[in-house]
Amino acid sequence: MDRLSTSSKLVLTFMFLLAGWGASAGGADKETGEKPESFTFIQLCDPQGNWPNFERAVKQINTLKPKPDFVLVCGDLIKKAGSKEEFETFKRINAGFQMPSYCVAGNHDIGIGASPEKLERYRKLIGKDYYSFEHKNHTFIAVNTQLWIAEDQKEECEKHDAWFRQALRGAAKKQTPIIVFGHYPLFTREIDEEKHYYNVPPGKRVEVLALFQEFHVVAYLSGHTHGNLINKHKGTLLVTTTATSFGGKPLGFRLWTVRQSRYEHRLIPLAMPKPEPVSPGLSPTVFAACLALCEALSSKSQETLPPIESA
Ligand SMILES: [Fe+2]
Repeated sequence: MDRLSTSSKLVLTFMFLLAGWGASAGGADKETGEKPESFTFIQLCDPQGNWPNFERAVKQINTLKPKPDFVLVCGDLIKKAGSKEEFETFKRINAGFQMPSYCVAGNHDIGIGASPEKLERYRKLIGKDYYSFEHKNHTFIAVNTQLWIAEDQKEECEKHDAWFRQALRGAAKKQTPIIVFGHYPLFTREIDEEKHYYNVPPGKRVEVLALFQEFHVVAYLSGHTHGNLINKHKGTLLVTTTATSFGGKPLGFRLWTVRQSRYEHRLIPLAMPKPEPVSPGLSPTVFAACLALCEALSSKSQETLPPIESA
């Protein structure tokens, strides 16, 4: 009898733990136990004033099947920080998405250190620079990474970070899986790397990663490098995606699929027009060989970071 009782207790304990794990990992409804619906969304980075390419990306994303639920635009919407004209062009093309799009600010939008004037212009022309929204039992949190870089904006930074903690606490209370998106990667190669153009300062990086761990953030999505970086830190996926504008090989955007407890992603190269023959006298055979060589070179994945470009 004692042995049976102990076994029963063990089974019950196991079932309890399994149920608890499922809720936190898969975002199942706390009361009904139902799993959230599956969905797809796009991570698009650094349109950065290359409007023909941004128009191509909008058109390509609109024709994907199934149609993504929404697009996250991870910063550097324009090239010349604070340019009203460029923001207006971005908005016109961005309005062509047949699904909602959610933007964050990058160094080419508001300056590396989030200049007050440019930040004000961004808020006026684009909207909030940090906010959250819910979608199918998930919480998405948009952060302003330029305020993690800024050295002379203490008040704005503290306000942003207090809000960020509150947003994390709110999502955790609802037991919804959390995905955060911003412009700068926290780090590129190593968690303890020194500050450089492409990352967040080490002190802030450690602080943010600790919050990701505390609140079981599923993924942090960023841009800025014009290349692809896939890292993982204590259960949080850290995914930086190539640009649509220039520099990345290939250029493109990332399709995310959320299904039950799984978060899958793959890069979709930007569909570019075929280049015209450079010489009308080039024989079809030679031209075809050149084209094949160009395509082979352009499809080769680039892991090196592009040259530093100031905002
Ligand atoms: Fe950037």
